[in-house]
Formats: sequence, C-alpha cells, structure tokens
Amino acid sequence: QPRVLSGAQPTADSYHLGNYIGAFKQWVALQDEFEAFYFIPDMHAITVEYDPAALRERTYIAAAQLIAAGVDPERSVIFVQSQVPEHAQLAWVLQCITGFGEASRMTQFKDKSSKTGADSASVGLFTYPTLMAADILIYQADRVPVGEDQRQHIELTRNLAQRFNHRFGETFTVPEPHIVKDIAKIYDLQDPTGKMSKSFSGPNGVVNMLDDPKTAAKKIRSAVTDSGSEIRFDPENKPGVSNLLTIFSALTGRPVDAIVTEFDGQQYGHLKVALAEIVGDLVRDFGARTRALLDDRAELDALLARGAERARAVASPTLELVYERSGFVKVR
Ligand code: TYM
Repeated sequence: QPRVLSGAQPTADSYHLGNYIGAFKQWVALQDEFEAFYFIPDMHAITVEYDPAALRERTYIAAAQLIAAGVDPERSVIFVQSQVPEHAQLAWVLQCITGFGEASRMTQFKDKSSKTGADSASVGLFTYPTLMAADILIYQADRVPVGEDQRQHIELTRNLAQRFNHRFGETFTVPEPHIVKDIAKIYDLQDPTGKMSKSFSGPNGVVNMLDDPKTAAKKIRSAVTDSGSEIRFDPENKPGVSNLLTIFSALTGRPVDAIVTEFDGQQYGHLKVALAEIVGDLVRDFGARTRALLDDRAELDALLARGAERARAVASPTLELVYERSGFVKVR
C-alpha cells in the first residue's frame, strides 16, 4: 500500500480553520487508500522563541485535535516527532547535501526571519526544511498532503531525495505533493489577500478550531467582504466573498456553483450568517471531542507511545540503509 505522511506544528493553543480545511480534511480522506503517518513536529516548533511548558501542553492539544478532526489512530499512525529520533538523525545527513544557497531561497525562512531580522534568526529556522525533508523521506512516503505554503519545501525534499539517490544509490522514494487546488489556501478573514496564519493574522482574521462557537461565528459574520453586493466566485476582484464561498464549499462538500446559485439575489450578509452557523456548529463539535480526549492524558500518552513505536519500525530500517550508503561503520 502506498504511504502518505504529513505534519502540523503545535505552535499555537489551537489549530485554525486553514489547517483544518487545507490539511486535516485531506489527511482524513487519504487514510483509506494509504498507509498513513501523521505527526506533530514539535522539533520544528523550537526553531523560533518558545516556552517549553506551553510546547508540551500544545503537543497534547495538537494530538487530540488530529483525532478530533477524524484521523483514526487505529488506521493511521499518529505520533510526536521528538519521540522518533531517526528524523533528527536523517536531517543531519540531508543537511550535508543541501546547498547553502538552496536553503537561503526558502521563502518561509525569509518570511519568518524577517520578523526578527536574519541575524537573530536561529540556525534551526534556517535548516528547518531539511528536517521536514527527513520527516518525509524517512518513511519513504509517496504522497504529502499540505497547503499551498508548503509546496516549496516539498520541492526541496524531492530534489534532496533525487540527489541522494544519484550520489549514493537508489535509497529514497521521491514523494509527490498532494495540494488540492481551491482549498490549499484559506485566506485571512480581515485581509483576504493574505493567508489565514497563526503567526501573521490578527485575532479576528483567524477562526481557531478551539474558539467557542459564538466567537467563531462572530468572526465569520464580521469578515471583510468586497465592494458591490453580488455573491460571485471571483478571487481576483472579490477575494473576501470568494474566500467565504471556498470555506462554505469545503465544509459542506457542496460545489461552489451550487452555493452561488442558492444565494442568488441575496446580500453578503445572508451568506455570512449561513456560514457562521456552519462554522459555529463545526467548532462546537470539534472542541467537545478535543476536550474529551484531553481529559485522559494517560490514554493519550499510550496512544502516542504506540504511534512512535509503529513509526520507528519504518523509520529505523530507512536510517540504517542511509547510514550504510553514507559510509558509516556499523556497530558490530
Ligand atoms: P503548518 O504547521 O504551518 O501547517 C499545517 C498544515 O496546514 C496548512 N495550512 C493551510 N492550508 C490552507 N490555508 C491556510 N491558510 C493554511 N495555513 C496552513 C499547511 O500548508 C500545512 O499543510 N512545515 C510544516 C509542518 C511539517 C510538515 C512536515 C508537513 C513539518 N514536517 C512533513 C508535511 C510533511 C508547517 O509548518 O505546516
């Protein structure tokens, strides 16, 4: 069975609606056809300033949210990155075949380091994409479901896999990105020209999956819309309404056209009220499921330990092959 792998950083107290639509919905859909590995990249979360106690708590919250989103811990392997040391071990080897210039061209590094200035950004933030490449290649993943903002990192991963294979012999599966057009970029509700983002959006631009239902609904109702009044899907001229239509479609499974037809002749306000109710219901359910899972930490710990064990069973033979190809002497 082909393999799918993806991860989402535990860098906030909650994932947001962009993560849910752009990533988790695909993760859930793919777990039927693929052997699935979904993980929480806690090691990626320490590349910027952070609080250790908050990270630990957020990692549990993240795990609970993956399950609340519909990732099934029986069918899919759910684990925490730092519990599988092979990721970091492979990352080092990959860093040694990554060009400095190549790493410098990663736009996420440029965006994130522009906050502090490149001089005070950590080396970890700079090498972040090589750890991400290791996350993927260590499982010989065929497919990586992500949002549009991760495309460049997957491209780097493919290049590194091909380069290693070419230099040291066939070792890695070259993975394909799985980016679903139209939903791979959910926009900020207050500034629909920018993506919904935990690090860049203001509080009203982002619906957090753990927002209380009233707050979430209110954010949708107060979303910035566009001039004019016609409800039409036109991302270029009507980015606000188009973003709401995309969210509406993703959450209901109905095509955008059908929604446009339903609201024909109505005002933006009608669309927002209807969507606010859908989003309110979603976060009510999602929050309740997440909180129930968080109530039993011992159960979550056991689930993650089991996930790490299943993950290592795949990661460890890959690392062994890589070490052999790299010319490292085996313990005998
Ligand atoms: P992260 O944690 O920023 O985001 C998790 C996933 O959510 C997607 N996403 C969005 N999709 C649509 N609209 C948005 N506004 C939006 N914002 C975020 C992201 O594209 C991502 O799929 N580097 C990764 C985490 C990672 C990873 C990996 C992913 C580490 N190792 C290996 C895949 C494979 C990241 O920072 O995603």
